[in-house]
Amino acid sequence: MRTNEDLLASLTADTTLAGRTALVTGSSGGIGEAVARVLASSGAEVVVSGRDAARAQGVAQAIVEAGGRAHALTADLDAEPADVRAFAQRAEDVLGGSVDILVNNAGVYPGSFTETVTDDEMQTLWATNIRAPHVLVATLAPRMAGRGSGAIVNIGSWMARVGVPYKALYPATKAAVEQLTRAWAAEYGARGVRVNTVAPGATATRGNATRSDQLAEMAKGTPAGAPVRPVDVAYAVRFLASDEAAFIHGATLDVDGGIAATRLR
Ligand SMILES: NC(=O)c1ccc[n+]([C@@H]2O[C@H](COP(=O)([O-])OP(=O)(O)OC[C@H]3O[C@@H](n4cnc5c(N)ncnc54)[C@H](OP(=O)(O)O)[C@@H]3O)[C@@H](O)[C@H]2O)c1
Repeated sequence: MRTNEDLLASLTADTTLAGRTALVTGSSGGIGEAVARVLASSGAEVVVSGRDAARAQGVAQAIVEAGGRAHALTADLDAEPADVRAFAQRAEDVLGGSVDILVNNAGVYPGSFTETVTDDEMQTLWATNIRAPHVLVATLAPRMAGRGSGAIVNIGSWMARVGVPYKALYPATKAAVEQLTRAWAAEYGARGVRVNTVAPGATATRGNATRSDQLAEMAKGTPAGAPVRPVDVAYAVRFLASDEAAFIHGATLDVDGGIAATRLR
């Protein structure tokens, strides 16, 4: 099987998203980086973002070197809503005045058994996984609606619809993301803004690099038999952001190797 790095290094340029601008949160690494690189390879001008300036700059540079258009912005999405609103404005400004595609990817998954989750972890899960996407959509979706078009893709998780005995609050934030997706599809869809979710399965990223054994264990017995590659999630995001998905509103597309559909234990 080809690796994530190999696939990202050999993306074929096309014009699926030519003329569109995109803000991808948490794109300085992991799934978000793959999304930014795939959207850029299809012609979108992309804002790469994260807390770490050097990492965001590195991804933007890789996109530019591959022939794409990208800008790096830093932002902490765990910050106060006013700061997240200001970040949305900065993204619009560097993209020439409008964000056509918003990918709410940045997310954290701290915590394990319910009784061990700390107060700080509870706060950061709420602020990063639910509040920040809400603030970004509240800021950018009305502007998309005013222009009559836009696409928002939220990153959920296979864990939103399956009970696991070692994590409860993180999957609940992702279930909230799925429900927000349906509500936003209803709220903005008639004005030209499509909102959908991509739900990854166990995906090998920096965020879980120390848990590769657990990832392999989770993927064992699924139809795919191996952890998801970030680029696989990115292909699905590109599809949902594109005009080919014109009639898809409020959907959740699983890119999880079949784990949610077939998991028996
Ligand atoms: N990996 C999986 O198995 C898996 C499975 C299902 C769903 N997901 C979801 O997929 C998304 C991406 O996961 P991932 O595994 O790719 O994560 P990751 O490897 O930990 O990367 C997270 C990205 O988000 C940024 N980020 C984290 N906290 C941030 C904050 N407070 N403000 C701004 N940026 C922040 C990070 O950049 P900086 O460090 O530079 O800030 C990085 O670019 C998340 O929503 C996650 O819940 C992941």
